[in-house]
Order: sequence, then structure tokens, then C-alpha cells
Amino acid sequence: MAVLKIKTYPAKVLRQVASPVKDFTGKTQQLIDDMIETMLDAEGIGLAAPQVGVSKRLIIVGSSLKDGSAEDLLVVVNPEIAYSEGDVLSTEGCLSIPKFSTTVDRRALVFIKGLDREGNPIEIEATRLLSRALQHEIDHLNGILLLDRVNTEDAAAQEIGK
Ligand code: NI
Repeated sequence: MAVLKIKTYPAKVLRQVASPVKDFTGKTQQLIDDMIETMLDAEGIGLAAPQVGVSKRLIIVGSSLKDGSAEDLLVVVNPEIAYSEGDVLSTEGCLSIPKFSTTVDRRALVFIKGLDREGNPIEIEATRLLSRALQHEIDHLNGILLLDRVNTEDAAAQEIGK
């Protein structure tokens, strides 16, 4: 395993629409392992393949990684939001946009369909932080960044409050 370099804004790969993963052989397994190590090293709660320069539809999320363990780690290949409901506003950051955070509207609940690292179909229902992390990482696969999701009303309100 290896810690990969995380691409930061305005790297072009962060703006590309990633292509579906079709093979689950050694190269993909290596990428997944490297992404896990990279995310743990960066103390992130999610990472998408474009963030390490690979324009493929592959994400990793975990909501209890603060102790550096790989428990509760979720690898989702070719993820799709099949259903979502509710709206919730909260603060987000991104490993590809260091020292920046903003409030972002997200769906409260998401139902995700995708594949696991072996290519088997999986379904995930998520709320709270896991839901938010999944939506953030799926955005990365479509070239969408936090900068595109800024809740301008809330940002303006904070500005006035200063
Ligand atoms: Ni991000």
C-alpha cells in the first residue's frame, strides 16, 4: 500500500466526470488499498478516486475513522443515488480544498446503489454524517466541488454577522 498525493483545486481531474469501473482485478484492488491508506493518513472521512488523480467512479467513506482504524470503512464502486429525501444544512470541508469549509445543503437521507470492491451489488441507506459524506464523494465523481455547493444565503448571513 502507498499513500498517494491528494490533488487539490484547481487540478483538472477534479472537474472531470469520472468513468465507470469495469474491472475488479489487481490494479483496481491496489487503487482501493492505496486510497484507504491515503484517506487514513489525511484523517479524512471520505475520498473519491479523482482526488488521487484517477478519473474512475470509486469512493471510500467512513464515519468513525478518527482513531485511524479501518472499521466501518465503506468502499462503493459506481455509486448512484437511487433515492433521497429531506434537506439538511451543515458545514463541510474537502481534502482537495485545504483550509476551506462552508455550509452546504444536502439531502437528509440517501439510498445508494453500487458495487463492492469485488463487484457485487450493494445497497446503502444512510443518514447524518454518512449520508453527507456519500453525497460529497459522489459529487467528486461528477466534477462537482464544495465551491459549487456553497449555500450563498447562509454565507451572506455569516458575513453580516461578523
Ligand atoms: Ni472532497
